[in-house]
Amino acid sequence: MPPRTQVAIIGAGPAGLMLGALLARHGIASVILEARSRTYIEHRIRAGVLEQGTIDAMDEAGAGARMHQQGLVHEGTILRFGGRSHRIDFRALTGKAVMIYSQHELVRDLVAVRIAAGDPLELEVEDVTLDGIETRKPCVRFRRAGQPHELACDFIAGCDGFHGVSRAAIPADRLRVFEHDYPFGWLGILADVAPSSPELVYAHHDRGFALLSMRSPSVSRLYLQCAPDEDLAAWSDDRIWSELAIRLGADDFTLATGPITQRSVTPMRSFVAEPMRHGRLFLAGDAAHIVPPTGAKGLNLAIADVRLLAEALAAFYGRGDATLLDAYSELCLRRVWKVERFSAWMTQLLHRHDAPPGAELGHRLQLAELDYVTSSHAAATTLAENYVGLPLR
Ligand code: FAD
Ligand code: PHB
Repeated sequence: MPPRTQVAIIGAGPAGLMLGALLARHGIASVILEARSRTYIEHRIRAGVLEQGTIDAMDEAGAGARMHQQGLVHEGTILRFGGRSHRIDFRALTGKAVMIYSQHELVRDLVAVRIAAGDPLELEVEDVTLDGIETRKPCVRFRRAGQPHELACDFIAGCDGFHGVSRAAIPADRLRVFEHDYPFGWLGILADVAPSSPELVYAHHDRGFALLSMRSPSVSRLYLQCAPDEDLAAWSDDRIWSELAIRLGADDFTLATGPITQRSVTPMRSFVAEPMRHGRLFLAGDAAHIVPPTGAKGLNLAIADVRLLAEALAAFYGRGDATLLDAYSELCLRRVWKVERFSAWMTQLLHRHDAPPGAELGHRLQLAELDYVTSSHAAATTLAENYVGLPLR
């Protein structure tokens, strides 16, 4: 008899780790299988803005202590265009706020909770394959240190990101894919310098979008719109800082510079795969959908999926009620599409679009929309309520 568990979770990113933690709270056993090492997953620099729902999930998982100590609560954000700043006051408009806390710190906290509880986390596994997902007895096969292993389970959660194997296990004729690759990307840096603004600055500029974000009171995170295949070698530190200073420029604003400790180029994509369930396989997070990062939603969407999945599995194991499992894909996708919409809208609003014809007209319409969003209470509220996070359902 192969070893068995109730839920086999593929991927120890935010989705997989959070699902494991929430299931443990309900007394549901899981095994997490991860391709990379602990050091790798705990140092991978990615997102940094947490919605209230994500903060709540960290607390529910028993992993929120360090986040509350170190996270920075932000009650608003700055939209900058035409060299002028306009504040969107989340607290006044929605009663809510967001928190700045690095994704890799969240991953560290969830890994620590899992290891402290003694729950299985299999790292550096290879050749993961999914079997029998259309039956009541699915199974995951993998290799570790060259040895073959087999794990029998009741359900499989595919939390293995955009390039994982889970989505590909669904027959192509049962999956509908919606996809758009943007003709630009983001050049992102981390720098050892205090953030030049207490709140995030989203800047629309004729030379392209720029974003000032942060990780802590002494670490800044900044982004520049660039080509999707931009050559990082062409960007010296001086060139990065002077381009940021131009695009973020405004009266009363000086960009502080410092040593750049990390740099990368991220392409931008909108992607949704439907449905998010096939038989006993449930997809969650980037395995099922990708948003461009302009709305700061990728991580939060992944956590929202697994909150619903954990609730559905708890109802199944606790009361024998499969209603929520049956509704999982539809419930998630309703929210996913709204978040896709918001992320695509923020992206179109703030980036420079070169493609003729109509680029000039498009540019002026963008400026009018920015003016509208920052001067109309209704429009600002729309932005704010999406940014702080839509209700789970
Ligand atoms: P992931 O974090 O991708 O986790 C999937 C896990 O599965 C990984 O640990 C991976 O190693 C593992 N895995 C993959 N294949 C296998 C396999 N075959 N077997 C076992 N394990 C496997 N979002 C924002 O909101 N703001 C940002 O600034 C931002 N920046 C980003 C920058 C980059 C470079 C990337 C790639 C994404 C960024 N995102 C950002 C998106 C956000 O980080 C993701 O939405 C989030 O990580 C999704 O979490 P997840 O758990 O679904 O997937
Ligand atoms: C980040 O801090 O990495 C970040 C913040 C806001 C975004 C995207 C990324 O919209």
